[in-house]
Amino acid sequence: MRVAYSSLNYKDALAVTGRGRILRGSPRIPGVDLSGHVLESSDPRFKVGDAVLATGYELGMAHDGGLAGCARVPADWVLPLPAGLTLREAMMLGTAGFTAALAVSRLEQLDLAPANGPVVVTGASGGVSMIVIDQLAALGYEVVAITSKPEQSDTLRALGAAEVLLRAEVDMGRKPLERARFAAAFDSVGGETLAWLTRVMQQRGLIAAYGNASGTDLVTTVFPSSCVASPWSASTRRPPACRNGSASGSGWRLTSSRVIWLIAAARSL
Ligand SMILES: NC(=O)c1ccc[n+]([C@@H]2O[C@H](COP(=O)([O-])OP(=O)(O)OC[C@H]3O[C@@H](n4cnc5c(N)ncnc54)[C@H](OP(=O)(O)O)[C@@H]3O)[C@@H](O)[C@H]2O)c1
Repeated sequence: MRVAYSSLNYKDALAVTGRGRILRGSPRIPGVDLSGHVLESSDPRFKVGDAVLATGYELGMAHDGGLAGCARVPADWVLPLPAGLTLREAMMLGTAGFTAALAVSRLEQLDLAPANGPVVVTGASGGVSMIVIDQLAALGYEVVAITSKPEQSDTLRALGAAEVLLRAEVDMGRKPLERARFAAAFDSVGGETLAWLTRVMQQRGLIAAYGNASGTDLVTTVFPSSCVASPWSASTRRPPACRNGSASGSGWRLTSSRVIWLIAAARSL
């Protein structure tokens, strides 16, 4: 493929700064996703000039990734570009959007629904969490966003958050169980924040733990009755079936139709 775009992800930063053990093998080209055109294919499913994308499969980690002029990957890892998305828009959503869709659809598969109650999203100004907020709001959830950045409050409300809490002002308490507030949590922060989430979930609450920006340790008790799912895009092995999404609009802001495509793709896994 001739690579047109690759989204810059948290993992790319960890990879190139050496702060995480991300790159396996050397030399290794980073870039956890890509979109572009087929230059050559030995697989009949793809012909020269097809617009395609690839994400997951440890691209840019165990295999050479998208921060390159050209890339070659097994055909099973490649998806036709969904109708209605440009190559650029596909990578604006990129791995962050894919992860967000995995998180939302996994919890819906576990029976999360808007009627269950408010849902909380942490690390709210981050790439994955902003798309999670957008998706949840489009699906009708009451979203509480937690951020460390007061200056992002208006943006988060515009995305669809009903309430924005500043992390410094959230009393995380110390009791094994605090007031049960949320039907579900979408967490990119991990560490103490994830431990607190386990204490404030309603009965049979659901937590999608997709990130660990603040740390990987988790100290909790046996009391929470919540279920933790860890959607992890890099190790998602099967490509999602493509769904038609008649996207409209421009800029990075997602439209509902793109959200629906992402959710449909993740549901097909
Ligand atoms: N599961 C997957 O497949 C997958 C895919 C992509 C990313 N991830 C993971 O998800 C996490 C977020 O990725 P991203 O792309 O959204 O990154 P990002 O755009 O850099 O956002 C991370 C956000 O986390 C919060 N944060 C950062 N450092 C923190 C700290 N020390 N303590 C508390 N909060 C902190 C900040 O949000 P606020 O200031 O708003 O609180 C920040 O904006 C990372 O751990 C990444 O590895 C997982």
